[in-house]
Amino acid sequence: MSVFEPRVFSGVQPTGNLHLGNYLGAITRFVAMQDTHPCLYCVVDMHAITVWQEPAELQAAIREVASAYIAAGIDPKKSIIFNQSQVSGHAELAWIFNCVARMGWLNRMTQFKEKAGKNRENASTGLFVYPNLMAADILLYRATHVPVGEDQKQHLELTRDIAQKFNNDYAGRIADMGHDPEAGYFPLTEPIIAGPATRVMSLREGTKKMSKSDPSDLSRINLTDDADTISKKIRKAKTDAEALPSETDGLKDRPEAANLVGIYAALAEHSPEQVLNDFGGSQFSTFKPALADLAVAKLAPIADEMRRLKDDTAYIDQVLGAGADRADAIARPVMQGVKDITGFLSTRKG
Ligand code: TYM
Repeated sequence: MSVFEPRVFSGVQPTGNLHLGNYLGAITRFVAMQDTHPCLYCVVDMHAITVWQEPAELQAAIREVASAYIAAGIDPKKSIIFNQSQVSGHAELAWIFNCVARMGWLNRMTQFKEKAGKNRENASTGLFVYPNLMAADILLYRATHVPVGEDQKQHLELTRDIAQKFNNDYAGRIADMGHDPEAGYFPLTEPIIAGPATRVMSLREGTKKMSKSDPSDLSRINLTDDADTISKKIRKAKTDAEALPSETDGLKDRPEAANLVGIYAALAEHSPEQVLNDFGGSQFSTFKPALADLAVAKLAPIADEMRRLKDDTAYIDQVLGAGADRADAIARPVMQGVKDITGFLSTRKG
């Protein structure tokens, strides 16, 4: 048995255009875990500024992610919803992790390579050390489980490497401070990458991930899209000319078909096998309208609630403020422990 209390942490960047991938890969999983675990769901505004953000738009985007969390079913009385910059421990622990993680580890991060592209020399240094801040987000609460989409897997492996190295480097000191020397100070956090939609693909190109930054709005379903727009995007989604197979094996080498079946399965809370049981042999002219109806039934109420919450900034700010207080109360003693272990001298009273 782990000495660490089970705790869930995850985050979404407030960078606009929350989409079906964020919803199915992450947010629906967040909702599912709040009945079984204490959960913290963060709007990671400090991660957002690793690339330029217009300040006024950033503020609106922070509230929008908080609204999406609530509209999708995260209960702010149960789970802690807050924005990262309000809890100073994130930045403090990230600095310590900048000194634990190795250049070689970060050089291997594929997301940095994708985001920096050819213009590496001009990328912010924050973008390079971004995974260290992510490790700090998680370990500041000694979170044991992190639900994410497939694209975050490598970052979570790095989080485990950082926890392990900190535990090893400071093993003697951790024991001296009265912590369990076997367990170390930080847990080795488990990623939760589960369900039929851990990697939702673009509706225009089945081999490309659905993404906020795709220039084509037809490539993604945004959480704020209305019913007509959702239906139109599904109608226009790229497919091949074959009927749907009856077995999942038949989806190999058919990335567009596999993507739409995965989306249907996730929205219906079925397995892809069940979906193919129902639709095997059907043409897309039958499957797409069924998928559009399901997507509208599931997503349009969320969009409506997000629109309502957009006008209630006082409520959203109150949720975020109360959440930050609760998060800070968990983070403070963990951070003080890190400072003591590291050998920082605490000189201030109170
Ligand atoms: P972000 O903001 O890019 O995405 C938020 C969540 O959505 C998932 N996701 C997808 N899932 C399935 N299919 C897709 N096409 C798709 N696109 C995005 C992501 O995997 C993620 O779970 N670095 C993180 C935010 C973060 C974080 C953390 C997450 C910062 N600190 C600590 C967990 C724990 C990010 O950029 O997510």
